[in-house]
Amino acid sequence: MRHPTLARRATAAALATTLCATALPAAAAPAWLTLDEAAWRVLQQQGITHDAVERHVVRTPAIERGTAQRSPRQDTLVLLRVADDGELPRLSLAAHDALHRCGGFMAHANRDDALRTIQRLQARGEGRLSRTAAATAPAYTIDDEAKVQKLLPRLQDTRILDTITQLQGYANRYYRSQTGVKAADDLAQRWADMAAGRSDVSVSRFGHPGFPQQSVMLTVRGATAPDEIIVIGGHLDSISPQAVLRPKGRAPGADDDASGIATLQEVMRVILDSNWKPARTIQFIGYAGEEAGLLGSKDIAARYASENKQVVGVLQLDMTAYEGSASDITLISDYTDSAQDDFVAALASHYLPGLTVTRDVCGYACSDHASWTAQGYPASFPFEASFGEDNPHIHTTKDKTDQFGNTASHALKFAKLALAYAVELGSDAPAR
Ligand code: BES
Ligand code: ZN
Repeated sequence: MRHPTLARRATAAALATTLCATALPAAAAPAWLTLDEAAWRVLQQQGITHDAVERHVVRTPAIERGTAQRSPRQDTLVLLRVADDGELPRLSLAAHDALHRCGGFMAHANRDDALRTIQRLQARGEGRLSRTAAATAPAYTIDDEAKVQKLLPRLQDTRILDTITQLQGYANRYYRSQTGVKAADDLAQRWADMAAGRSDVSVSRFGHPGFPQQSVMLTVRGATAPDEIIVIGGHLDSISPQAVLRPKGRAPGADDDASGIATLQEVMRVILDSNWKPARTIQFIGYAGEEAGLLGSKDIAARYASENKQVVGVLQLDMTAYEGSASDITLISDYTDSAQDDFVAALASHYLPGLTVTRDVCGYACSDHASWTAQGYPASFPFEASFGEDNPHIHTTKDKTDQFGNTASHALKFAKLALAYAVELGSDAPAR
């Protein structure tokens, strides 16, 4: 079994299948899918009507589980058209049962959309990154030691815990619920208060077609290279079977992912309180609708790509509070950029000596970093534990701070890493 945690969650409630990433459309219509070979076998076993099957090879420069070795894999993506998208939940359910993970398929509006996604994945696998042109490719150097060391001690785990506690207090932060909308609005207000009095800092909301919850961003405008953007993000929504069923059903989402939002907000606080003015632009983003299929980040990354925005690097913070394994920080290394992952690992060993950093894979597009990767932007995802040793209570009414001892001491490590990342990457004024 690849992922005991997910399997455990899957059997915990029959409804867990609704928590997988499927667009659940109302009316029967054809849908284009890309899926891996395992999910493709499940689709066939289920007798789901489909046609137009083609195969595409994608190389994945991922690190294999339990090794330090980077072993390039060749994966086949199957592209096909299903006759009735109303069958997707059944496929999701069956894949969940057979593979003990989420469906592992992506839905696309049409064949061209699907091909574009495949091409981007291929370009990445072959090292042809589409958007980080050589002129703006960052030098992954560690050369702002004094600045980083001055700011690190200002990060406070008690503040991180306070924010998590505040966020778990909403009935839920479900992307379609009233309280989910309010949680996002309140976050925007809180960030606007933090930005008050700074002409170089702004807060905006990003609306999404199809659901009411908005993504929220705080932008610190770069002094010398404002067009070069560093993104530090996490998802502000939460989910549980109860929240899917009832408007006020409980989905506290303390670890998943109030912890990520609280971690990045503490980095934001320390940066805003300091007199440091980044050379590059730094954006902190709380994504809406991640739990429904990376919806918020998908929209944002696609918009940035269509506007040719130069995103120099993306750091995803999703689950930082639960200390479940000997590994302090686990760098997820699929759907990420291996050069930036190495930089993040170097930052950890430089600024967090004594911590154990290991690598693991999700095996599927498990969080918002994958939305950026799909658009050709370099993304990394430092995660709370080795796979299978992470918080088993996520997506349930039990995902509260007591599951991690009512302390944010583990999350603080991620705040330190993210601060080092922001300052080291944000300080470099690129040579022109
Ligand atoms: N925080 C999780 C992702 C995760 C869970 C990573 C466990 C590593 C270990 C995220 O919020 C999530 O639930 N993702 C979904 C997939 C997404 C596309 C809806 C998942 O993993 O089922
Ligand atoms: Zn989740």
